[in-house]
Amino acid sequence: MRKKIVAGNWKMNCDIAHTYELLDQLKERALNEDVEVIVAPPFTNLQSANQALIDSDILVAAQNMHQATNGAYTGEVSADMLKGVGIETVILGHSERRAYFHEDNALLAKKVTTALEKEMTAIFCFGEELEDRTSGNHFNLVASQLKEGLFHIEAADWKDVVLAYEPVWAIGTGETASPEQAQEMHAFVRKTITEAYSEDIANDVSILYGGSVKPANAAEIFGKPDVDGGLIGGAALDAESFAAIINAFE
Ligand code: 13P
Repeated sequence: MRKKIVAGNWKMNCDIAHTYELLDQLKERALNEDVEVIVAPPFTNLQSANQALIDSDILVAAQNMHQATNGAYTGEVSADMLKGVGIETVILGHSERRAYFHEDNALLAKKVTTALEKEMTAIFCFGEELEDRTSGNHFNLVASQLKEGLFHIEAADWKDVVLAYEPVWAIGTGETASPEQAQEMHAFVRKTITEAYSEDIANDVSILYGGSVKPANAAEIFGKPDVDGGLIGGAALDAESFAAIINAFE
């Protein structure tokens, strides 16, 4: 049985004071216990967030990490450094990392390998840009992101992978993929995994949808059979909205 997951990607938001405030507000709320809840604050606040959540089921993830284990990579953070402060989950391949920091599929494949070697859970993001969708190339594009960035892993490693489909045209734009568009792509992803690996693996992996998920549209999106949760940006910065999204699951 695959897990239901709602993860909040805080991006470059929330200083330490705001981090504590948001986590305190979240902890006060009753959250659906069937849902694994993850928050991803900036690097500087990971350890504090983890400590603030020590008596809570909410998990803390990093938004990125470097593929090398250590070395002369000024400004970068390794898997061991994350694990050293209790972080076991990392978001990889977010479209903002791909677009602004030139992370391509080959680089992401290395990051995935490192995360899995270090026994971390990788939340692997992928998704097409608007022009891919309007030209009808979205399925091909997503298939190549998966094949080139992820499909080098061993079958046994899929237990440590969560997928996040985030169509770039729906991120931070207020424009959401329709529940049908999300379902269609998630089903395509499962078919692609079935062909490359097996139906069991395809059925067991959680696939999250991300892109302008709000309390008002979460229930309908999460109601689709192949949507196992969400990767939430803007609405994760408000405890009430994030809790409402978590509780939108039936
Ligand atoms: P928004 O929810 O703000 O559209 O962001 C989605 C996202 O990029 C989560 O990683």
